[in-house]
Amino acid sequence: MGLSTVYKSRFWSRIGIPRFWNWTRIQRFRSIPPPADQLAAAVSLDNDAALSSTLKKSRFSDRVCIKSILSQPDGGAGLAGEKVRISGWVKTGREQGKGSFAFLEVNDGSCAENLQVMVDASVSDLSKLVATGTCVTVYGCLKIPPQGKGTKKQKIELRAEKVTDVGTVDPSTYPIPKTKLSLEYLRDYPHLRARTTSIAAIARIRNALAMMIHSFLQEEGFIYVNTPIITTNDCEGGGEMFRVITTLMKQFDKLEKEFVMSIEAAKIIVKEKSEALAKLKAAKASKEEITASVAELTEAKEALAKLEERLKLKKDEKTDSLEFFSRQTFLTVSGQLHAEAYACSMGRVYTLSPAFRAENSHTSRHLSEFWMVEPELAFADIEEAMNCAEALLKFILKGLLEKYFDKGCIDRIKLAASTPFGRVTYTEAIKLLEEAVAQGKTFENQVKWGIDLASEHERYLTEVVFQKLLFVYNYPKDIKAFYMRVNDDGKTVAAFDLLVPKVGELIGGGQREERLDNLIERMEEMGLSIEQYQWYIDFRRHGTAKHSGFGMGFERMVLFATGVDNIRDVIPFPRYSGRADL
Ligand code: 4AD
Ligand code: MG
Repeated sequence: MGLSTVYKSRFWSRIGIPRFWNWTRIQRFRSIPPPADQLAAAVSLDNDAALSSTLKKSRFSDRVCIKSILSQPDGGAGLAGEKVRISGWVKTGREQGKGSFAFLEVNDGSCAENLQVMVDASVSDLSKLVATGTCVTVYGCLKIPPQGKGTKKQKIELRAEKVTDVGTVDPSTYPIPKTKLSLEYLRDYPHLRARTTSIAAIARIRNALAMMIHSFLQEEGFIYVNTPIITTNDCEGGGEMFRVITTLMKQFDKLEKEFVMSIEAAKIIVKEKSEALAKLKAAKASKEEITASVAELTEAKEALAKLEERLKLKKDEKTDSLEFFSRQTFLTVSGQLHAEAYACSMGRVYTLSPAFRAENSHTSRHLSEFWMVEPELAFADIEEAMNCAEALLKFILKGLLEKYFDKGCIDRIKLAASTPFGRVTYTEAIKLLEEAVAQGKTFENQVKWGIDLASEHERYLTEVVFQKLLFVYNYPKDIKAFYMRVNDDGKTVAAFDLLVPKVGELIGGGQREERLDNLIERMEEMGLSIEQYQWYIDFRRHGTAKHSGFGMGFERMVLFATGVDNIRDVIPFPRYSGRADL
């Protein structure tokens, strides 16, 4: 089947996404580039800002937002004759009529759409306005564009009467010209890339997702708690934490420098003494002279060794005595343990926080700094936690469909929002993968009970075998964190992952081990310091409760919602191994 037959809807073919997300043909779609620079087309204007009759100026700024013009039900046509002041950045500009006037497509960030502005050469120096990226403030009159002229889409345009402010751009050095730029290229300009339609669209979708997450959880009675960024424990036990140190180290560095200088001086003395000894030997000096010279050299060497030893001690001391918090601290990998503390008092809580992981993985799904929503529910078991994760995700996806996407929306999201998610145990999932291997399917990573599922396995299960979003639960205990509740079989724990097409793991969660003895036993088994986790064990010691929760990677959710391929393009300022720009 050719791609053209897949592109059935005009809308989706325009933005580069097949109309029918045909699950059985999903493999074919992998090579299709993500909507990327056409994403904005999917973030349509919402109509909640429709104005009564006249336009209101935006609060806190002496201008009218472009959204308030273009979001009118008639596309703004009814506003013809209104005088407005708008401000924004030129997306594209072109001089026409032999330089007698120019059309500017201006965007102010209030919506994805641009307002067309027509400027006459008698109003302003057109050559200063037309470069992409130029900032303009324009006062003028809204007019209906002449039929067949100007933009095809716009029902209204602004005829400039005054261009009051201009922030010019030098096109020879501006790195974001109007030509098609790859997302990869844009990664080198994180401070300017939000000026592109695609990155701005992703930012709007992020914003919408965050708001929907809050709405759903608030509606369901969850309390939003803020868990610490600086922590002492490694929740996930992966040892992938960033250390927190202070610049107090500078004092030590100064001392260290002094030592290094003394060591350099001592080395020169050692060198001089050994040269003196060599000369005496060459000159066949007396035994007494040579013995005295050897003694001097030995003394100089001892002095040097002592200094070197003291420098080493200083360096060791540096790590312990200068801890700002009098102990080692790290950036959090997850707010879960602290969220549990609040869940075991307030019932239902959630965090929406950054998490930091020093994983050295250069994949399109891993960041060193990412955001995670972590709901935690008292009196809920693994099944109820999965129900909650499913309801949250469906709410978000339906919200995206209703508010943020065109009517002919992505079937992938529609399907996810309306079909019950599949549920399969890890053991069954392994069996299915083994069956696939027996039938000739090849995976890079070996399939056998006990492995941590690789991304290729996860995607095969959700995209090919089940063709829907899929919970895999009851994982082997050896591949999961200490806090997971051990099942009656003694081999597996009540952990689950939610697998989604294109992304693989989107959510990780499970039921927590609420039984004091079992928890301690498991921590000992895993070699964790019981002392360090006394506070966490206290929830089991005092008023223990069955509870569960999960964490949804926010950027992975954005990947799933937008179809963008690389996680580095869906967070404003990405941090990953080797890169932390700005
Ligand atoms: O599966 P994870 O490691 O689970 C936890 O952190 C639990 N403490 C959550 C909980 O039960 N409260 O991570 C949860 C999710 C993953 O499913 C994935 O979507 C995302 O966080 N994630 C990452 N996203 C981007 N970059 C990384 N390096 C990520 N690591 C995990
Ligand atoms: Mg996980």
